[in-house]
Amino acid sequence: MEFTVGITGASGAIYAQRTLIHLAASAVVDRINLIISGSAETVARAELAVDLRGIDRAGVNRWLGLPADSQLIQLNRLDNMAARPSSGSHQQEGMVIVPCSMATLGVIEALVDHLVFRILDHLGVPHSGATRWKGLPEQELEATAPKD
Ligand SMILES: Cc1cc2nc3c(=O)[nH]c(=O)nc-3n(C[C@H](O)[C@H](O)[C@H](O)COP(=O)(O)O)c2cc1C
Repeated sequence: MEFTVGITGASGAIYAQRTLIHLAASAVVDRINLIISGSAETVARAELAVDLRGIDRAGVNRWLGLPADSQLIQLNRLDNMAARPSSGSHQQEGMVIVPCSMATLGVIEALVDHLVFRILDHLGVPHSGATRWKGLPEQELEATAPKD
């Protein structure tokens, strides 16, 4: 099973670490897409004294106590809209945002293109961020169809 974990800049960075550790320990999870916001890095530094800025997979593995060569966690940059979980055709089981800041929860305008929202959209979770293009509504398709 594949999941995405988004870490945003709310208090409770320890819950992100524990969620990742528990998911990684699950026998049914074979891929975790990890997205870390810039504010999440700041909070993790303040709360856990851990430096997540520019962290690579080996660093994440160290942080979570996983084997150095573990491929389980796939890091995705927050602005990488070409990342695998960003694709509408990409199958995954779900997404966890932990901890979730009010800024992310409330969807401020500047975060509309946030990868987190795009994945929520693909998973069909209602949110007030930018929504994916779903094609023309049925009535408009009928109205524009050639008449014979
Ligand atoms: C140490 C620290 C703790 C914070 N705790 C919270 C919090 O508990 N809840 C919250 O909504 N924002 C909190 N913030 C503010 C958010 O990090 C800020 O609103 C940020 O823009 C959120 O961006 P993001 O959603 O992209 O991570 C905290 C910031 C810092 C530096």
